[in-house]
Amino acid sequence: MTNSASDLSDINRLLGAIDDVGRDRANGGWSRHLFDGAERELRTWFTEEAGRRGLAVETDRNANLWAWWPEPGPDAVVTGSHLDSVPGGGPYDGPLGIAAAFAAVGRLRERGFVPERPLAIVAFAEEEGTRFGLPCLGSGLMTGSINADLARRARDSEGTTLADAVAAAGLAPSELGADPQTLGRIGRFVELHVEQGRALADRDRPLAIAGSILGHGRWRFGFRGQGNHAGATGMDDRSDPALPAAELVLAARRIAKSVPGARATVGRLHPRPGGTNVIASAVDAWLDARAATDTQVRGLVEQISAAAEHAAAEEGCSLDVVEESFAEAVHLDSALSWRLGATIGDVPRLDSGAGHDAGVLCGHVPTAMMFVRNPTGVSHSPEEWAEPDDRAAGAAALADVLAELAGPTEV
Ligand code: HGY
Ligand code: MN
Ligand code: MN
Repeated sequence: MTNSASDLSDINRLLGAIDDVGRDRANGGWSRHLFDGAERELRTWFTEEAGRRGLAVETDRNANLWAWWPEPGPDAVVTGSHLDSVPGGGPYDGPLGIAAAFAAVGRLRERGFVPERPLAIVAFAEEEGTRFGLPCLGSGLMTGSINADLARRARDSEGTTLADAVAAAGLAPSELGADPQTLGRIGRFVELHVEQGRALADRDRPLAIAGSILGHGRWRFGFRGQGNHAGATGMDDRSDPALPAAELVLAARRIAKSVPGARATVGRLHPRPGGTNVIASAVDAWLDARAATDTQVRGLVEQISAAAEHAAAEEGCSLDVVEESFAEAVHLDSALSWRLGATIGDVPRLDSGAGHDAGVLCGHVPTAMMFVRNPTGVSHSPEEWAEPDDRAAGAAALADVLAELAGPTEV
């Protein structure tokens, strides 16, 4: 089945319609976080676009949005991604997979395709974990890989708990958690995503299929020292938590570079009280560490923590390290990925340094991913990009995949 790209310019209309949602023109980038104004606008967009295509929309107990064709049912072919972003992120990480799904379903309906098994588009809640610090929150709660009690108590930067946020959104906090009924409907899951790297640009190819996803986790480092006056306190009379925090940043880089393919980042650092003329009393810093195996990730964090602990002791500071999330390294389903390759043609296989809801679903249902070329290779930043023709090629490929997976079973 071939879909001419012009038929799928729908994806570019869909993305154009939300391009201003959550956009920060002053500082650059897009910020769309669970239940904030921008993310609620995207939920409305999702619901309206589903309605235009005759899809039945429902929100599950974990705030994931579903659009069903024709209605919820077993052995479903599910595609989708997430609506939320990192702070000041790009416009395609997440929404590209959802817009492609709507364009693909629209195209199949125009061609009179009738799915032999239920088909669904899903927007998983809070994949980036920006507001409550728990990545893949919606898919993790649904599969039971995130503890619901712990999640209910998670607080955002204003102190609002997830329980209060979901209640304000009309959901029942007590219902958050494993959802075997919804998960049990999924026969297979395919996520289309903008590539977060330059491999396709370097190969001059528009599409790829995912092979594996790095193991990755997040750890909060709480450094405590003695707040004091920046001018009245001699340099030998200090316990300044900024010093071991600085060593954490440097150790992350130094130690990750010693493990092939590993990554370690400190992108979030909060000195308190945060006065220019004040020696901080506390510094909270978050480490994001990733590697090809879970053992390597744990080994990285152990070495980095030891370096930070040593620096804290040297400075007369204390350190408390808390693991906030961990996602195992996964390999996408080989049989399903083979079927995707057989359907969309001979495309490269790429491993993903970025985490995805597909990485969570992978442990529960056959799961595969497709990537669309990103000429800048940049992501989690305003420079993230995908050319209109490549977006359309992604939607066309997804339409072929959905027809293949939801069409008549070969006897
Ligand atoms: O952090 C990640 O890899 C993903 O973008 N949530
Ligand atoms: Mn992301
Ligand atoms: Mn993503």
